[in-house]
Amino acid sequence: MADRQVRACARLGKLAMDTVDYIKQKYGEPTNGKLLKNVRRNDFYHVFKELGFTEGAEVGVGGGVNARTLFDIIPNLKLHLVDCWLPIGVRTEHYQKRYYQKMREILTSELESGQANSIEKWSLDAVRDFENKSLDFVYIDANHKFDSVIQDIIQWTSKVKRGGIVAGHDYHYYRKGYGVVMAVKAYMKAHRQNWYLLDNEKEIKKQTNNTWFFVNARRARRG
Ligand SMILES: C[S@@+](CC[C@H](N)C(=O)[O-])C[C@H]1O[C@@H](n2cnc3c(N)ncnc32)[C@H](O)[C@@H]1O
Repeated sequence: MADRQVRACARLGKLAMDTVDYIKQKYGEPTNGKLLKNVRRNDFYHVFKELGFTEGAEVGVGGGVNARTLFDIIPNLKLHLVDCWLPIGVRTEHYQKRYYQKMREILTSELESGQANSIEKWSLDAVRDFENKSLDFVYIDANHKFDSVIQDIIQWTSKVKRGGIVAGHDYHYYRKGYGVVMAVKAYMKAHRQNWYLLDNEKEIKKQTNNTWFFVNARRARRG
């Protein structure tokens, strides 16, 4: 490898390290190397603001509650809202239409200003619309089955810059058929990726709704 490449790699590696350092400085060393105790999802979005993140994607938006929170915390955010809003699993057409309407209501001003970009597609179709390494963060919360989660992590990670954050929701054993825990663990193990968990955003004692995340230090995939 040429000197120039070595220096570039070191610089990019440092960026990812800086993000990790920043998080550890803010919250302290994670319990068991992984759990950021008493840090809820909404607290954590302040890190996005403090790191100067300005463009991200939420994959699985539903009624837009989490997107609303992101806009309320991060100034001048451009957020891509990726959701099929089509009948899927227990979500009927009626249910999905209601959630789509709710999303449009609570994000009206951002949709009008163009800060919110609604992409009504399946996750793995939408991901092709993005340039590699173009996003500061992605938040994955679409189909929770193993095959979908693992593919979402692989595909969407390519779209996140080095030093950016790949996160997702529902790291817990919730319903039968949920594969978030298995998919997150499998990905992190295969890629030898350090990763972290936030504490539960509703009740600390109940292991529900945890957000997982890692800082991206990977090269974008080709093709
Ligand atoms: C749990 S909800 C998202 C909630 C939202 N992230 C929040 O915290 O407010 C999951 C959403 O993912 C969408 N979804 C499920 N599978 C999908 C897929 N393969 N592609 C795109 N959207 C999908 C559903 O339509 C649903 O609106």
